[in-house]
Amino acid sequence: MAENPRLICASTALTDSGKGMRFDLQYQGETTPAFAIRYRGRVYAYLNRCAHIPVEMDWQEGEFFDLSGLYLLCSTHGAMYVPETGQCISGRCAGKGLVTLAVREHDGHVYLIEEANHV
Ligand code: FES
Repeated sequence: MAENPRLICASTALTDSGKGMRFDLQYQGETTPAFAIRYRGRVYAYLNRCAHIPVEMDWQEGEFFDLSGLYLLCSTHGAMYVPETGQCISGRCAGKGLVTLAVREHDGHVYLIEEANHV
């Protein structure tokens, strides 16, 4: 791997629409919470920061999916996000999205490739 990847967790720690893996990273000079989830076989990662108000989203630690397992849910006011893109589809996030992080699975592990896309 040409990048300088950072190990997040074992691949087996993330199940489809299951509990997410929380981790911290440096974002705009601050230690910032983030998370990785698996959806339909692929791993995605985002800052743990709602687009409505910058609060953490999990309703219990690591629980980001709604009951249907189809959307990521903010526990504060119920904004819903598409797991593959982080785009808001419902709620007070008003069409905004989560800050995406680049991740990759390799040899049974999940790695963070870039700290953040700085959108
Ligand atoms: S803080 Fe997430 S919907 Fe309001």
